[in-house]
Amino acid sequence: MALVSEVGNVPIPIECFCSVDAFLNPLLTDKKPMKIDDFRLKLGKKEFVPVVVGGMGVNISTSELALEAARLGGIGHISDAEVPVVADHQFHTHFVANKLKRHRSNIGSKDKSGVHFDLEELAKAQRLYVSKTMEAKQGEGAVFVNCMEKLLMNDPMGTLRARLTGAMDGGIDGITLSAGLNLRSLELMQDHPRFRDVKIGIIVSSVRALKIFLRRAARVRRLPDYIIVEGPLAGGHLGFDVKDWHLYDLKEIVAEVLLFLEAEGLTIPVIPAGGVFTGSDGVEFIQNGASAVQVATRFTVTRESGLPRHVKQKYLEAKEEDVVVNAVSPTGYPMRMLKQTPALGKTTKPNCESLGYILDGNGKCAYHESYYRAREKDPGGKVIVRGKVCLCTQMQTYRCWTCGHNVYRLKDTTNRLPDGSYQLLTTEHVFRDYQFSEDHQIKLPPEPGFLKPKLSD
Ligand SMILES: Cc1cc2nc3c(=O)[nH]c(=O)nc-3n(C[C@H](O)[C@H](O)[C@H](O)COP(=O)(O)O)c2cc1C
Repeated sequence: MALVSEVGNVPIPIECFCSVDAFLNPLLTDKKPMKIDDFRLKLGKKEFVPVVVGGMGVNISTSELALEAARLGGIGHISDAEVPVVADHQFHTHFVANKLKRHRSNIGSKDKSGVHFDLEELAKAQRLYVSKTMEAKQGEGAVFVNCMEKLLMNDPMGTLRARLTGAMDGGIDGITLSAGLNLRSLELMQDHPRFRDVKIGIIVSSVRALKIFLRRAARVRRLPDYIIVEGPLAGGHLGFDVKDWHLYDLKEIVAEVLLFLEAEGLTIPVIPAGGVFTGSDGVEFIQNGASAVQVATRFTVTRESGLPRHVKQKYLEAKEEDVVVNAVSPTGYPMRMLKQTPALGKTTKPNCESLGYILDGNGKCAYHESYYRAREKDPGGKVIVRGKVCLCTQMQTYRCWTCGHNVYRLKDTTNRLPDGSYQLLTTEHVFRDYQFSEDHQIKLPPEPGFLKPKLSD
């Protein structure tokens, strides 16, 4: 045994120093810093690199981005938000035009209660988008779809069923039920032949929400396969109140969820999300009982991300004081975004006859109501809507710049180019940085001269 020191004449073996190090720094085990790659996420019989790229609608987490995560052995999400729009862009279908054709005569009317999606067409769009993605899948990872249940689409149950069954028909590996969890989702899926084979996960922001969902899941004897616990620093919509989101802490919520599951004797993998910026942040969660981490913001500035190039630069330029949480989303959930978001303060005519994703089961949406109220107040005058934005239109045109709290740190993950812009990253680079980074280090990409050019650049 190698003796390296003596304390009070007592020889101390080198192994003791290793464990003291490890005790002082939980990221060190036997002197070696831990990395995410030292762990695996087990879902059923499959094992994954425990990095999940979260869904980012509308088409920010593109098929290409999700497929890269899967190729590298992790899990990537596509998002089915506004899937007919996404399908039309990619496959030159006419789902949006067909809907508009059916409801054109309603344009200008405040009453949107009759503006429905054709459920067959909706399922077809979903099937097409998912099956084309799955056909391109390579590697040992998985592609899941993020299904935002707060998109009620003027028929919450019918449209949700069409989206869920369309995704399963299309061969998706897993479905993550998010924002506005519908307690009946599992019932809506239960007659599908893939109900017990497709992976099903939920996103919750509290033990309370989890308990409610699990009670309902018990009815169909189908527990979720994984639980994503999303904290207050995440991007997109938040499961907290706009006034007090900052009082919550992801680590605490995850600890509560783990305690609850243990007390119930349930072994469901828990996946924290929101603010996990380095691989070492992920390791800390995993060492404290999580099974993987879900991340998103760092992938917004990859070449595969669907954001337009100039918007990626806005994300890279962002400062901490640019990041706001506000109540402009007509869904009723707070949303985090850059304060430079072009959609803020913009009044657009509601486009529900083509879009209409946020209309509730009675054909109402907080934006379209504000719009028609403003119009009635001043007939013939300029309509100005304050406090809400037309999210359907603004998200599909990338004018709502939602992001995680850490967006202002993106500039530290890449190189500044001679023209002052920032170098875009590849999904592979960011994924591998999460997988292999140690001690909170972030690896910069190779200088642009060393990269193979890509058409999208
Ligand atoms: C640009 C962007 C769009 C997002 N869109 C969605 C979405 O459509 N549905 C959803 O459930 N979560 C959405 N999220 C949340 C992410 O899936 C993820 O859980 C979270 O942002 C992870 O935290 P991080 O961004 O700090 O890594 C979005 C996040 C970002 C950054």
